[in-house]
Amino acid sequence: MHTPVPDYLAEVADACASSTGGELASYIPELTRVDPRYFGLAMATVDGSIYSVGDGDVEFTMQSISKAFVYGLAIRERGLAAVLEKVDVEPSGDPYDELSFEASTGRPRNPMINAGAITAHTLVGRDGIDAGERFDLIHRLLCDLAGRELGVDEEVWQSEVHTSDRNLAIAHMLRSKGLITDPAEEVISAYSRQCAVLVTARDLAVMAATLANGGVQPVTGKRVFSGEQVRQLLSVMLTCGMYDSAGDWVSTVGIPAKSGVGGGIIGSLPGQLGISTFSPRLDQHGNSVRGIETFERLSADMGLHLM
Ligand code: DON
Repeated sequence: MHTPVPDYLAEVADACASSTGGELASYIPELTRVDPRYFGLAMATVDGSIYSVGDGDVEFTMQSISKAFVYGLAIRERGLAAVLEKVDVEPSGDPYDELSFEASTGRPRNPMINAGAITAHTLVGRDGIDAGERFDLIHRLLCDLAGRELGVDEEVWQSEVHTSDRNLAIAHMLRSKGLITDPAEEVISAYSRQCAVLVTARDLAVMAATLANGGVQPVTGKRVFSGEQVRQLLSVMLTCGMYDSAGDWVSTVGIPAKSGVGGGIIGSLPGQLGISTFSPRLDQHGNSVRGIETFERLSADMGLHLM
């Protein structure tokens, strides 16, 4: 029998609703103010149909999900070769905030961990661009992907800026290696603002569907990335998007994905779907516990595993 998609999504959400494992991210103090019970699930197809259930319209901060798109923007602006000179594409097997550098060249191991993401952030815009202008370029990209004007959670941004010793340490390491040249404080402030851009699960599903659709936003029809740029981005999401649980994720879910400590996860299935979940309780890797369970179930039910 044919089950309409919203009914099916509600069924999956119900099945995963009882999961209450994990903890809110507390190293950014403002994130502990989020209601841990939130649970949103959304899907967008490459022809622009969007389905969402639960708290699919609640806004939360993108956090590391922004890294995937900003990596794409750095490639769009500088070309892949120039970006690869500064950021490698190897899974690090380390936590996202590790000072994880490739031994022979000193490059950050990949653009999904903070070291690589901070480097990719600085590759946006011409050399010498002001940090505020760079943020505006990144914000424009994220709005184009969502197909609407996105806000910024200024409290979360400031909260992260005031507790960013670790990211500052990473930025100073990058400066010492000559991989970035701008002042560490300015870079980390703008990078943290990028992470504090507000989205809903619905937005994220459309953003992920843009990648699934070869770089064309399926609702507005705007081309945001080329097919080649998307291929690079999805490859790195598949191998590195879930950090030191990427291997687990690929074997159980099998979809290129990216998580954020705001509680979001996106998954992008080339030619088919963008999927997103929002549930703020995280596991020890910084990935949403209920989000992972939901993706595991969707992948099994719908046969989404790429392999
Ligand atoms: O830089 C940070 O630590 C945060 N703004 C983002 C980290 C994050 O989302 C890790 N992902 N799950």
